[in-house]
Amino acid sequence: MVEHRSQQDWLDVEQYLNRTLIKADEALAQAVSTAQQAGLPPIEVAPTAGKFLMLLARISGARRVLEIGTLAGYSTIWLARGLPEDGRVISCEFLAQHAAVAQENIDRAGVGHKVEIRLGPALETLETLQGEFDLVFIDADKTNNVNYLRRALKLSRPGTVIVVDNVIWEGQFLDPAASGDELAIRETLEFLGATEELEATAIQTASSKGWDGFAVVVVK
Ligand code: SAH
Ligand code: DHB
Ligand code: MG
Repeated sequence: MVEHRSQQDWLDVEQYLNRTLIKADEALAQAVSTAQQAGLPPIEVAPTAGKFLMLLARISGARRVLEIGTLAGYSTIWLARGLPEDGRVISCEFLAQHAAVAQENIDRAGVGHKVEIRLGPALETLETLQGEFDLVFIDADKTNNVNYLRRALKLSRPGTVIVVDNVIWEGQFLDPAASGDELAIRETLEFLGATEELEATAIQTASSKGWDGFAVVVVK
């Protein structure tokens, strides 16, 4: 019989996974602590999710990565570490303070040569980009997710991998009266399911970040 598990269990398991599977890393720890000191919101991906992004970059053989939503560079560092030495991450961020904290963290992690932060509203930045990306990580303002996906499709090739963070968000998108971010999440999932050029799934997660999840998508 499957019993309901309390959040304490998820936290115990997460801590176990973190110490068992993820090497202690000073640069990543500092990316989190400097963000906290600067008053940035603690909304970076969990360590297991960050490592998932790194593994996905490696598994897909990515060289060119697009990230939408830099914050303090935590996920950016993981992505950059999944790339070969000549790989590049372009990361979009519209708050100068976030970009400044992120640049320091990225440099401290030794991946500055692989990362270019583009300051400005992401939709505007995306309009200036050309060519094909191998991997796209969408993790910014949820109300633009569908716009980001449409634009990402234009910057893709068959086989491009897209990950969209926060597509579960405590499940509130199921409420027929959902609005704002929650409605945007439902529209994101419906767009992923209905778009002929995309093949998508979504994985629910339980962690110190609460009940959430991410979509994994491939361009057909
Ligand atoms: N990917 C990061 C977390 C990103 S949090 C990590 O896991 O470490 C979301 C970020 O997106 C915030 O820094 C926020 O300032 C930025 N953001 C929100 N709306 C944006 C927009 N329209 N254009 C660019 N950046 C945006
Ligand atoms: C929020 C945003 C995120 O990208 C996330 O992973 C968690 C929370 C937020 O805006 O609250
Ligand atoms: Mg997120």
